[in-house]
Amino acid sequence: MANRKRVALIGFMGSGKSTVGRLLASEWRVPHIDTDTHVAARAGQQTVGDAFVALGEGAFRSVESTVLADIVKTDEAVISTGGGIVEIAGNQQLLAGWRTVFLYAELDAIMQRLSAPEHAARPLLQDAAGAAHRYNHRLPRYRAWATDEIDTSNLSPQEIVEQIRLITG
Ligand code: S3P
Repeated sequence: MANRKRVALIGFMGSGKSTVGRLLASEWRVPHIDTDTHVAARAGQQTVGDAFVALGEGAFRSVESTVLADIVKTDEAVISTGGGIVEIAGNQQLLAGWRTVFLYAELDAIMQRLSAPEHAARPLLQDAAGAAHRYNHRLPRYRAWATDEIDTSNLSPQEIVEQIRLITG
């Protein structure tokens, strides 16, 4: 697995998975696959937030797992996963052949980043206490699933990409 361009990014909403994934995939010249985009398309919705609301969380998770099962068949790619990917235990097996990089950010930093107007459509952030609960519940799972962890606190997206390139040799 060491030198293959086969990376999945995991982490909470707002940790930079989509931005970093896009950049890394473009540098590596491999596809960038965003699970959220595929889930929204399967649900016939414009955005992942709409899909979450339309399906409800249970059905959303099930579509997300189906989409992931398809995506992991790709040989080389950068996958940006939805923040809730760790909610379903079976998704861990699906990611087994993938270098899984956890983009760590503190909850405060995440809430700060996501308070910008362009993030207003995230349904799970309407309730700050609920978001904190999800964060605390997921943190040990991100860590358990990850092959690598990057503390994104003081890093730009480009610097995170460089760290991933170092890790993957
Ligand atoms: C979710 C995160 C979102 C999206 C959906 C649910 C979550 O993805 O999958 O709104 O449960 O954390 P991002 O992490 O890409 O924002």
